[in-house]
Amino acid sequence: MDKIQIKGGNRLNGELKISGAKNAALPLMVASLLSDEPLTLTNVPHLTDISQLTEILCGLGVDLVMNGDGHAEAETGRVITLTARNITSTFAPYDLVRKMRASFLVIGPLLARCHQAQVSLPGGCAIGTRPVDLHLKGLEAMGAEIELIEGYVHAKAPGGLKGAHFHFPFVSVGATENLMMAASLAKGTTVLENAAQEPEITDLGLCLMAMGAKISGLNTRTLTIEGVDRLNGTAYRVMPDRIETGTYLMAVAAAGGEVELIGARSDLIGAVIPLLSNAGVKIGETNRGIKVSRNGAHYEGVEVTTEPYPGFPTDLQAQLMALVCTAKGTSRITETIFENRFMHAPELLRMGADIAIEHQTAVIRGVERLKGAQVMATDLRASVGLVIAGLAAEGETTVNRVYHLDRGFERIEEKLGGLGADIRRIKG
Ligand code: UD1
Repeated sequence: MDKIQIKGGNRLNGELKISGAKNAALPLMVASLLSDEPLTLTNVPHLTDISQLTEILCGLGVDLVMNGDGHAEAETGRVITLTARNITSTFAPYDLVRKMRASFLVIGPLLARCHQAQVSLPGGCAIGTRPVDLHLKGLEAMGAEIELIEGYVHAKAPGGLKGAHFHFPFVSVGATENLMMAASLAKGTTVLENAAQEPEITDLGLCLMAMGAKISGLNTRTLTIEGVDRLNGTAYRVMPDRIETGTYLMAVAAAGGEVELIGARSDLIGAVIPLLSNAGVKIGETNRGIKVSRNGAHYEGVEVTTEPYPGFPTDLQAQLMALVCTAKGTSRITETIFENRFMHAPELLRMGADIAIEHQTAVIRGVERLKGAQVMATDLRASVGLVIAGLAAEGETTVNRVYHLDRGFERIEEKLGGLGADIRRIKG
């Protein structure tokens, strides 16, 4: 397995392009199942999660054409055209679904278009039990009959899905996406209350509307979807990755320097900018994106709780923890979205951090400096948190098991190397 080796201490300077958002691209790709016409997505990131999903979609009969490697196409990113003219299978196997939770999103569109689906229960990052009960309850409310047989969800809706009123007991990004897609082709009107309003939901909603779906309430907690008989194809540009943006903001904050993040959108990372600015990191908008700098001055500790959007995202929690390990004073980070998402803390301890976990809260007392060490990447966002710690640390850090990183961060060693970091991949 590949490793990433970092010699800490270099400042980061220059500019880098923020990639298209993984968490927006995945549901957008799945939306292709809703139409028999081509859906062309631009600005798609070059990541293993994307390739994984293409495999699942091809298995269902989606015809797929992919251009570029996301490298040369600074403007368009990768371009993928997906055409689900004939869905030849409604079966998504364990071997593929277990690797990535987002693949469970195929169940809603398959049920809506083919009135049946057999999808393995999902896997994904080991950050808690992560059930799919809300996806299933919502589909049942829309008339689906669901059985769990040997690790597979067998779902059918003989007369097609029907519009329904569904109240989410708590916010779920994936379940909102699944039900939104299913409702677009259901008979009648669906109202989703306490729905997620993450920017990726809005991105999906805008694309579905471009395909002919009738959706109102985007950017709010109540979505109303009037089902239509068919959806058409369209071309849609994936939004920039807000998690990658926040990650590089924190990397520069940790290592020092000045970097312009081209294509980044400050409106997508509402809670992050004030938090970092209050801690002493300089962040401003430019006409090309966002500029971040920290020159010498120490930054302050923070107190923050992860929350559904527009709150502070759980997907930036590990990166923030790595950053505040060397902040002035004590920080408190409370994780409310996932039950087991502090696995990076013991790794940061190996680097000399002072962290105590009290239930859902990590109490981090700032130390003068972290020291390089061998650490292990346990999940996607934790891995990049360790990279940030390595950039700021004294000496050499080796992040082992980096396959998680490749699932969600495009060419990270190249991007950071281009800014002056001493970072390299060791092929394993
Ligand atoms: C998505 C993101 C992930 C992010 C998360 C929260 C993608 C591909 N992934 O994941 O990066 O960390 O949102 O912002 O977009 N839950 C249930 N039952 C369900 C569904 C969810 O109990 O049926 C729980 C989960 O275990 C978790 C919480 O609800 O504790 C939130 O999960 P959810 O918002 O659904 O996250 P994902 O869509 O899986």
